[in-house]
Amino acid sequence: MSKVYVFDHPLIQHKLTYIRDKHTGTKEFRELVEEVATLMAFEITRDLPLQEVEIETPVSKAKAKVIAGKKLGIIPILRAGIGMVDGILKLIPAAKVGHIGLYRDPETLKPVEYYVKLPTDVEERDFIVVDPMLATGGSAVEAIRALKKRGAKNIKFMCLIAAPEGVEAVQQAHPDVDIYIAALDEKLNDHGYIVPGLGDAGDRLFGTK
Ligand code: URA
Repeated sequence: MSKVYVFDHPLIQHKLTYIRDKHTGTKEFRELVEEVATLMAFEITRDLPLQEVEIETPVSKAKAKVIAGKKLGIIPILRAGIGMVDGILKLIPAAKVGHIGLYRDPETLKPVEYYVKLPTDVEERDFIVVDPMLATGGSAVEAIRALKKRGAKNIKFMCLIAAPEGVEAVQQAHPDVDIYIAALDEKLNDHGYIVPGLGDAGDRLFGTK
């Protein structure tokens, strides 16, 4: 079974409070989501492999460490996932960015791919799939499936707020994918919103409501 990591760093929790607040406007919401994504990227990259190099400081020769050239890919689930990308790229600027778009089939109610554009070297990369909200888990499960179908082997899922239902769905479908969240909320309501959550992440990011 995959692991769930809750990033309870005070800065993340502080910023998340203002993200949740319904009085926070679009500009500030967007900035805060980006900032939290940066802080989460700091935590999620904790296990990146290092390699030793030789350098010269102004004082002497020294052995030092650099990141061992791991190839990373960030995959936002359209559209709200886009709000987290720039924040992650601040710390991992060389990462490639793919996109996965899904819509809900009105008859089956299941998510269906309508857009998938990934880096060409999928099999060589480690991926972080991002979406601010993990609600029922339907989109996350399908996006991860789409990525695996194209050859991805090492995938992490990162979101701001998760519902227990979503965590369970991802763990059931993808026991190899660890989940990184800023908060685990109480439940989903009858409309599929996370409670207390933050409302519709896409609308609040893009000012479409
Ligand atoms: N998607 C959102 O944007 N918000 C929720 O609460 C659930 C799904």
